[in-house]
Amino acid sequence: MSDLTIREILERYPFVIGYFEENRLDIQGQEEKTFEEFLNDFSEEEVEDFAIDRETLKINLEEYIHQMKDFLGIEEKLGISSLTILPGHDKSKKSEGFDELTISKSEIISIVGPTGSGKSRLLADIEWAAQKDTPTGRTILIDGKIPDKKWRFSSNNKLVAQLSQNMNFVMDLTVREFLELHAESRLVMDVDSTVSKIIDSANRLAGEKFELDTPVTSLSGGQSRALMIADTAILSSSPIVLIDEIENAGIDRRKALDLLVDEDKIVLMATHDPTLALIADKRIVIKNGGIDKIIETSQEEKELLKKLEEMDMFIHNMRTSLREGKQLKM
Ligand SMILES: Nc1ncnc2c1ncn2[C@@H]1O[C@H](COP(=O)(O)OP(=O)(O)OP(=O)(O)O)[C@@H](O)[C@H]1O
Ligand SMILES: [Mg+2]
Repeated sequence: MSDLTIREILERYPFVIGYFEENRLDIQGQEEKTFEEFLNDFSEEEVEDFAIDRETLKINLEEYIHQMKDFLGIEEKLGISSLTILPGHDKSKKSEGFDELTISKSEIISIVGPTGSGKSRLLADIEWAAQKDTPTGRTILIDGKIPDKKWRFSSNNKLVAQLSQNMNFVMDLTVREFLELHAESRLVMDVDSTVSKIIDSANRLAGEKFELDTPVTSLSGGQSRALMIADTAILSSSPIVLIDEIENAGIDRRKALDLLVDEDKIVLMATHDPTLALIADKRIVIKNGGIDKIIETSQEEKELLKKLEEMDMFIHNMRTSLREGKQLKM
């Protein structure tokens, strides 16, 4: 806490604004200082005016955060460092041929395999923190341990952010209402600017721009996907990100991935796309419902990736021209 700036404290615990207000601490323009630096900038007379000393203000701030967290039922952001998959069995009940697979923070893993082979199933096992209670019999460990049951059911501070293959909005809400609801449930203070940040990012991913007053039910597949990606990237603090089939929606995949992937996260993505598969450090090959192989992306493949990216760019430009109604040239 002591090395966080006020801005960082507020990002993490938006409710702290209440503490500053109660104590008549005007933090406007002071956001880049730590709380201690902020207090140290007061003169002795000013401190006397508070009738409370700096040390007490610091202790009370920590206590305030502690109590608010309890009250709101938030747990500290789960600073997890690894995810482990223990083998189960494939569709023919044959045991998977690996001992264990541990994925560390900041690793990107892709999941490849034929249609229907079980890629989405593996993501679902992780999301559910399978304990031999899914069709694959796999076990998922977090930091080497069986994770606490409670995060399976917690909707707020979820361990896993999942972007699933099929996105169906059933609610009759506008994009703004949907994002506001979501931002509020995440205790975001500045809902308006967060909402506009999300829609801007989403529109940078999607082809045809949409507006805040567009009903979510009338978004196209690509647009709703872009919206969910931007929403997850900006609102979710989950340390594990699961992505299913980013490529199907005609959105800018590379941009989407850059938005979602961040140093602190463990990222798994199921894909049929060679570029995305090779961006990953490792890939899991699924066959007949089981993990068949785990392949490390080789140097040669990384070289190949550059070529693939050039080809993707070529196709991307063609697609854009086509969409804009232009005549394509050689
Ligand atoms: N080990 C397993 N044992 C039993 N059923 C399994 C196993 N693995 C996967 N399945 C089932 O096989 C079906 C297809 O799997 P899944 O949807 O994960 O395929 P996929 O690889 O994601 O396909 P696509 O590329 O089309 O998205 C699902 O019903 C899933 O539950
Ligand atoms: Mg799938």
